[in-house]
Amino acid sequence: MAGLDPVHRDFFAGGAGDERTVHANETAFDRLRLLPRVLRATGVPDPRLTLFGTVLPGPVLIAPTAFHRLAHPDGETATAHAARDTGTVMTVSMAATTPIEKIAGTGARLWFQLYPQPDRDFTAHLAGRAAAAGVTALVVTVDSPVFGRRERDLRNGFLDLPSGLACENLRDPVTGRVRDIVLDPSLGWDDVLRLRAVTRLPILVKGVLHPADAAEAVARGLDGVIVSNHGGRQLDGAVASIDALPAVAEAVRGRVPVLLDGGVRRGTDVVTALARGATAVLIGRPVIWGLAAGGRDGVATVLRRLHEDVVRVMALCGAATLAELTPDLLREVRP
Ligand code: FNR
Repeated sequence: MAGLDPVHRDFFAGGAGDERTVHANETAFDRLRLLPRVLRATGVPDPRLTLFGTVLPGPVLIAPTAFHRLAHPDGETATAHAARDTGTVMTVSMAATTPIEKIAGTGARLWFQLYPQPDRDFTAHLAGRAAAAGVTALVVTVDSPVFGRRERDLRNGFLDLPSGLACENLRDPVTGRVRDIVLDPSLGWDDVLRLRAVTRLPILVKGVLHPADAAEAVARGLDGVIVSNHGGRQLDGAVASIDALPAVAEAVRGRVPVLLDGGVRRGTDVVTALARGATAVLIGRPVIWGLAAGGRDGVATVLRRLHEDVVRVMALCGAATLAELTPDLLREVRP
């Protein structure tokens, strides 16, 4: 990423502690091999799926990531144009450097990610603002009661956005000042459910690894679960997402969609996650690298190549539809 400031590159690439979980998210896929079916006369595979009533062209969505204007001057607007160009969903981060209304102006399908703030009125205002801009789901990130210890950022002294950039969606509606994002260790299920009262949008919880938490989310009427360890940026040593997935899928029993992010880089990773029980996946860093390398076109290239790879791997596995990606297509091998 020649154009990226090395400090910003570290911010995007890095994770917590020794980055064991960053690494594990990718390497955990190495142990899972595909057992393809042959001669099933499937023709060209159909990778579409329906999620919350919307037909999407494929099972890969954009995970929420902060500060896109550090990667490219066009920032989140470029990413959203690429989402629009390819038809996928972009999940806009609460820490976006562009106002949600401007991102929505691209016509992309958007979800909005938030951390519930101790100021409940402000959280409700934020959810309402995103809904008014046209987002079609809320993603509540629950793996961040405190900040993970990101040692690259500490070493680099990267603490805040450079002047001229701000978390535009945190502007106070009264004062116009940008608020700080507050991570709240006293957050509980009731705080997530409070969003129910202020929006009719589907609510997904992001950052679930334990099957008991997934069961709780379903029991409390939430609409989806995202299996994630925040790309290894929060709890270093947390289990790789793909390893947490089977127990979560078993606990959820198909009652709500189960999405996964962390380490998804190739069509084989996408197919493996779906065969292990995911409904769809999201990608974080690959989108940032595409953005840094080529703005809107760079992100669109990342999304298109991964989409084509998914279709190719489905064909090579003898799967005509995503529903045919089942656990019998996987074998776990020793590393
Ligand atoms: C993130 N992630 C994240 N998650 C979230 O809920 N809100 C956020 O603001 C951010 N910001 C953020 C910034 C950067 C630079 C990264 C790399 C990640 C986590 C993200 O949504 C996702 O869980 C991981 O990025 C998925 O892992 P991969 O695809 O990056 O391996």
